Amino acid sequence: MTAVPLELRDLTVAFGGNVVLKDVSIAFGNGFNGLIGPNGAGKTTCFNVVSGYVRPSGGEVELFGEPLRERSQARVAGHGIGRTFQSPRLVLDLTVLENTLLGLHQRYRSGHLRELLGLGGARREEREGRERARELLNAFGLGARAEDLAGNLPLGSQKLVEVARALMAAPKVVLLDEPAAGLGATDVDVMLRGLSAIVDEGSLCVVIIEHDLQLVMDLCPFLAVLHNGAIIASGAPADVVANPTVVEAYLGASVAADV
Ligand SMILES: Nc1ncnc2c1ncn2[C@@H]1O[C@H](COP(=O)(O)OP(=O)(O)O)[C@@H](O)[C@H]1O
Ligand SMILES: [Mg+2]
Repeated sequence: MTAVPLELRDLTVAFGGNVVLKDVSIAFGNGFNGLIGPNGAGKTTCFNVVSGYVRPSGGEVELFGEPLRERSQARVAGHGIGRTFQSPRLVLDLTVLENTLLGLHQRYRSGHLRELLGLGGARREEREGRERARELLNAFGLGARAEDLAGNLPLGSQKLVEVARALMAAPKVVLLDEPAAGLGATDVDVMLRGLSAIVDEGSLCVVIIEHDLQLVMDLCPFLAVLHNGAIIASGAPADVVANPTVVEAYLGASVAADV
C-alpha cells in the first residue's frame, strides 16, 4: 500500500490560551482535496502548521508516513510542500517570471532577490528553471505577462502567479489557501484547468481551501469540514454536504437544499 501523502494526526494548536485546532486528524490523498468551513474555523492554521509557520502544541504532521519533525520553513519546502497564501505574497518589483522562479528557492531575503535569481547554480539548471517557469506561466495563461512587473498585474493574475510559484519546485503536496477568492470567472477557469492538467500529469496531492461550495464539490472527490478547530465531517462531497452537523454548523438549510 502506498503511504498517504499528507496526514494530520491529533493536531492541536493554541495561541496563548486560545485553542484554535483541537485534535485534528485527517488524511489527504493524491488529487484534489477540499478543506472548507466558516471563517475562523482554523483552515489557514492547518496550512501554517504543515508549512512550518506555526508550531503545534500537540500532534503530528506526516508526509508519506514520515513524521515531519523538523518544521522550519526551509526544511518543509525541501520535503516537497508548496503553498499559496490567502493574500498573494509576490515581490511586486520583480517580474512575473522572477517571482515564479523564486519557488525554487526555499528561503530568501528581499535584499538578495536579484542576486539569488542570478545565482541559479549551474547554467543548465538556471535554463531548465526558466523553462519550467515559462511552462507553468503558460499553463496559467500568463505566458505573455512573464516580463511584466508583478505589481502591474491585477489581483486575480497575481494569485495565478502564486499558484505557479507554489508548483515550481515540483512539490508532492500543494496547499492552496482560497486561490479562487477575488478571481473573475475567466481566471477561475484558467486556474482550474491549469491545476487539473498538472494533477493529471502525475501524483500530486492538492489541498484547497475554498468558500465556493459548488467549485469544491465539482473539483474535489474528497472534502473535509473544519468547524471551531475540529473536523466535523469528511468524505465524498455529496455525503459531506448532506451531513446534518455540517448543514447546521456551516451551510444552513437553504444552501444544503440548493446543491
Ligand atoms: N498567529 C496567530 N495568533 C493568534 N491567533 C491566531 C493566529 N492565527 C490564527 N489565529 C486565530 O485562530 C483562529 C483560526 O484562524 P484561521 O486558521 O485563520 O481560520 P480560517 O482560515 O479557517 O478562517 C482565528 O480565531 C484566528 O483569529
Ligand atoms: Mg483562512
